Formats: sequence, C-alpha cells, structure tokens
Amino acid sequence: MIRFKNFSEAEAHDYFELIRMLYPQFVSGKDIEVINSPGKITFLSQGLNQVFHLPEGIDFQERRRRIKSYILNSLQIQERVSSKFGILTGVRPIKLIIGLLDRFSPDQLLNYLKDYYCIEDLMARFLISVALKEKSYFDSIDPKGYSVYIHIPFCPSRCDYCSYPIIKSSNKDKLQAYVDTLLSEIKSYRHLKKSPTSIYIGGGTPTSIGESQLERILKTSRQVFGQGMEFTVEAGRPDTLTGPIFSCLKEYGVTRISINPQTMQDKTLSRLNRRHSVEEFLKAFYEAKQLDFSINVDLILGLPGENSLEMMDSLNRVMALDPDNITVHTLSLKNGSRLFQEQEYYTNSEIISKLINHVYQGLGNKGYKPYYMYRQKRTLGNGFNAGYSKEGRESIYNMLMMDEQQSILGFGMSSSSKFYYPESNRLEKVLQYKNLRDYQEHWQDKNSLKQAYMEDFKW
Ligand SMILES: C[S@@+](CC[C@H](N)C(=O)[O-])C[C@H]1O[C@@H](n2cnc3c(N)ncnc32)[C@H](O)[C@@H]1O
Ligand code: SF4
Repeated sequence: MIRFKNFSEAEAHDYFELIRMLYPQFVSGKDIEVINSPGKITFLSQGLNQVFHLPEGIDFQERRRRIKSYILNSLQIQERVSSKFGILTGVRPIKLIIGLLDRFSPDQLLNYLKDYYCIEDLMARFLISVALKEKSYFDSIDPKGYSVYIHIPFCPSRCDYCSYPIIKSSNKDKLQAYVDTLLSEIKSYRHLKKSPTSIYIGGGTPTSIGESQLERILKTSRQVFGQGMEFTVEAGRPDTLTGPIFSCLKEYGVTRISINPQTMQDKTLSRLNRRHSVEEFLKAFYEAKQLDFSINVDLILGLPGENSLEMMDSLNRVMALDPDNITVHTLSLKNGSRLFQEQEYYTNSEIISKLINHVYQGLGNKGYKPYYMYRQKRTLGNGFNAGYSKEGRESIYNMLMMDEQQSILGFGMSSSSKFYYPESNRLEKVLQYKNLRDYQEHWQDKNSLKQAYMEDFKW
C-alpha cells in the first residue's frame, strides 16, 4: 500500500504511477507512506525513514521532477532494481520524444533524456531511434487521413497469461450475432469517399471464426473502405490458419498477417494452455511466406518456467525464419489472467531487465530495428513491448495508432475510435461498449458520436 498525505490528488497520482511502474510490490503488500510538509517530503517504509528537503524558489514542475528522482534513487538502492526509463511514466514515451525532437537535436536529446528523466543510456538511444523512424514515416502520411481498426473478440481458448475480454469461437450463436452487428456498424460508413491509410483486423483471434464469417467481414470491409496502403489481419494462433482461411485472406487483399508462437518452447505452450505446437507455427509460417504475406511474429519474454537461454533460443529460432517484423513483449501481470490469480512463479525482474538489452542488440545484429514501442503496467523488469522490423517493412498502422498521429475509426465491441486534429494537436476518443450485450443493443449510440466527429473531416 502507498499512502500520500497532504498532496493534491494529481500530484499524488503522478508519484503513485512512478512507484507502481517501478515496484509493483509496493502496491500490494509492502507499505510506504509519503508526507508533504513545507519545504520537505518525508518517506516512511520498512527500512526507509528519510526526509527529502526541497530547495526554495523552484517551480511546480521542477519540484515534481526532483521528488520523482528522489523516489527513483532511494527505491533503486533499497530494492536493488534498476529502472530503464528513469522517472518517465506513461504508456506512450515515443509521443513525448517526437515532440522533444522539435526542440533538440538527437545528440542534445540524448543528454536531456539521461539528465532530466534519468533514463539509461541504451534505453535513451533506443527511444530516440524509434522516434526518428516514426517521424520519417509521419512526415509522408496525411495527418488528416484515417486508418481503420476492426475488433474480433473470439479465440479458440484462453491462454493463461491473457486477460483480454474474449469469447470462445466455438460459440456459434454469439459469433453469428456479433458478426451481424459488426457488419451493420461497418455498413453505416458506406458514404465514405476516401480510403483509409491502413486497415487492421485484430482481436482476439480473427482467424478463429471460420472462413465463412471471416469472408463476410473482409468482403464488407473491402466494399466500404477499399484498399489502404496496408491491410493487416492478426492471425495470432497458428492452429487457426487453415488452407481456406489463407485463401480468404489472399482473395480480399490482406497484405500483412501476424502469426504468433509467443515462445518456441513446446513445454511452455502446453503449460500456458496455448493449444498449439511449435511445429504448427512453423507450418503456418512457411505457408504464409509462400503466399507472399508480410509476416509479423509475436514473442513474450518472461513466460513462467523459462530461463534466459530458452528465451534467447526462441528469439534466435524466430530470427532464423527471417520474418518482416518481430514484436517482443515482456510479460505483464494482468489482473484478469489465470497466471496472476494463481501467482505462478515469475522470472526474476533483474534477469528480464538484462535480457531485454540482449534482445535489442541481438535483433539489431540481424538487421531488425525497433520502430514502435509502448509500456504496460505491472511488467516484469520494468519492461516494455516493442515492434522490430527489417528496413522498409514497418507496419504503418502500429506506428500511427500507438503514437496517435492520425484518426482511427474503430469497429466492434471494445474498439476505440480516435479523432486527431493536427492543427491543434487535439484528440477526441469514442469507446464502443465493452460487453457483447451492450454492444449489440446500443452500438448505435456510440456510432452517432463517431459520425458527429467525422463531420469535421473530409473522408
Ligand atoms: C491482442 S493479443 C492477440 C494476439 C493473438 N490472439 C495471439 O494470441 O496470438 C496481442 C499480443 O499481446 C501479447 N500479450 C497478450 N497477453 C500478454 C501479457 N500478459 N503480457 C505480455 N504480452 C501479452 C501477445 O504477444 C499477443 O500476441
Ligand atoms: S493471447 Fe491471443 S489467443 Fe490467447 S487468449 Fe489472448 S487474445 Fe486469445
């Protein structure tokens, strides 16, 4: 538990987020109390009872920065865990770095990130290279255009580490009803004149719904939106990639798919209730390659029971296949997952933290450069998720969506639509209902809000 005394709610929240990102054990279990009094902050916890004096005359922003640096340094010594990101919180660091590139040259920015935010040297270089890569794309993309996200919340079974709200694809009634509603929502955009920059069908596992339902969605999407520069379908589970599904994806112009083993260790897959084998992944991968899809492969570092050698082995085996993109996640301990509820054994954070650096270097040696990244809460080793790509094969959608540089029209349960106004750097969000019944009965309420924002754009 962390308790704050005599702070404004916003200031307390800022420090809480930092402590939570760095040291989740203080949120549940260990106690820490932070007391604000004139000119000083007192920290009380087991083994730590210190007063931090603040100099007079500093402004509010500098006060916050100094307190955060103090929290970082004192907890780092006490807990013997290093923070890659220093005092930087927030899930989209690249958005901030892109903004800072307007004020600083890359060399100046490196020093600024290290001095002001206390970010590790390697991490600061990583962040700057991602921001420069994204900037080079954003400069050539219409910021007043849009991209499309379509959500399919169905999966063959639930993997133990996952907490996404999913429905079993074997539930044919729910599936039929869902696709019916989704198509009504998509068709209400028939009046669009302009094609999107990119389309992304994600989930869940969109390829787990069978070829006839998938075909309905792909056909309607093509009729309503046409073909963007990039059309991705998250195939995800390799066991869902049958011949007819591949044919359907090809027929409707899908250019990019994700096939995700998460690990190349069969024992981990079966332990985590991810019901496919490494062999099935390889079979699906080779077939997709023959069909000339651009391929992304997702991996997760820190799956329970795996050591560093096994994780590096998974990475090496995936790199040997030469996919266009490899997305490396770090295990995030999600409240709703079975893994979290059963408090399984987790890999030591220090090991993960070092491994993340090796992964970055290993991928770099094989020509994979990071092109987008984001952080999540409760991630082992204060890790993060990053997409790496072969030169020129980056996913446009991932960059635009993550760093909010274009509007996204979202469709389906739990989808999020974002309207981006580049002149004022304003972002308006509309979230679709998060459960099936509300979505089916009331989707039009949210749709009217989306349509109202759309009037500001010439699509
Ligand atoms: C939205 S999920 C859907 C992907 C697809 N259904 C699959 O399983 O292959 C996208 C990715 O998030 C990652 N992921 C899911 N749960 C995670 C967790 N608890 N920690 C870290 N990454 C996670 C996995 O790598 C997964 O491929
Ligand atoms: S990881 Fe993918 S396949 Fe597994 S439950 Fe989550 S969304 Fe479904």
